[in-house]
Amino acid sequence: MEANDSLVIKAPKKSPLLPRLVVLAFAMVCGVYICFICLKQINTNNGGSTTSNKFLDVKVVHQLCNSSGIEQWEIPLVHYPNPVTFSREECVCNPVRYFAILSMQRSGSGWFETLMNSHINVSSNGEIFGKKDRRANVTAIVNVLDRVYNLDWFSSASKNECNAAVGFKWMLNQGVLEHHEGIVDYFNMNGVHAIFLFRRNLIRRLISVLANSYDKSKKPLNGTHKSHVHSVAEVLILNSLISSI
Ligand SMILES: *[C@@H]1O[C@H](CO)[C@@H](O)[C@H](O)[C@H]1NC(C)=O
Ligand SMILES: *[C@@H]1O[C@H](CO)[C@@H](O)[C@H](O)[C@H]1NC(C)=O
Ligand SMILES: *[C@@H]1O[C@H](CO)[C@@H](O)[C@H](O)[C@H]1NC(C)=O
Ligand SMILES: *[C@@H]1O[C@H](CO)[C@@H](O)[C@H](O)[C@H]1NC(C)=O
Repeated sequence: MEANDSLVIKAPKKSPLLPRLVVLAFAMVCGVYICFICLKQINTNNGGSTTSNKFLDVKVVHQLCNSSGIEQWEIPLVHYPNPVTFSREECVCNPVRYFAILSMQRSGSGWFETLMNSHINVSSNGEIFGKKDRRANVTAIVNVLDRVYNLDWFSSASKNECNAAVGFKWMLNQGVLEHHEGIVDYFNMNGVHAIFLFRRNLIRRLISVLANSYDKSKKPLNGTHKSHVHSVAEVLILNSLISSI
């Protein structure tokens, strides 16, 4: 038995050279192939680095913040802005929601905005598109929106670095309807909540709008146009106007 075993083991050593060469050649081909694949991967990584690295950089900033308490569906609507004008310090990972109150004059949007601003961490910046040059074109609008949502817009309603929601009030006749396509794109791309606030009673809405434009042109309140009345006397004057329209 032992003699037989040793014979079996020794047998391959005496085999001809050809099978060994075949195995060697196979190993070499495999080695070259693996090297080739590695080189190819390194090349593609370098080639695509300009775009993919930028993307990664943005991702890394976001990944530093723990979004585990946020529902999956809400993740595109939650942001971690990085303001240019100040540092969010310990609140850098507080998620921020973006909103815009879309409304018409005299529908209670001022009251609604005051209500929002009464929360310490909510900032609604008022009618920032009241100025014409800010809504001259989509580029100008996007610039303003970027500043507001990056927390770099300063108004009396601006809050602290721990803001949890930021937005503003936007009247439909302040460029919303004219530039609606660009605005909808921006809202979708940046996850902005659009809050529509209208009077439910259509006839009252119409009367409000008429009274507003009448007041704007005639200015019966001591020659000033007031979109909001602040005293009983002013209310009475406007009331008499509305009944005379
Ligand atoms: C995120 O926070 C949760 C608790 O709110 C914790 O269980 C989890 O480990 C945290 N994840 C990371 C990556 O820090
Ligand atoms: C405002 O934000 C701070 C910091 O995140 C938080 O501690 C505080 O509870 C918030 N205030 C309210 C009223 O939610
Ligand atoms: C957009 O409007 C701003 C402000 O009025 C102006 O400076 C800018 O040139 C305009 N841009 C375009 C592309 O029309
Ligand atoms: C108009 O001005 C006068 C004088 O300043 C003031 O007494 C009055 O209350 C004003 N009326 C209104 C409606 O603002």
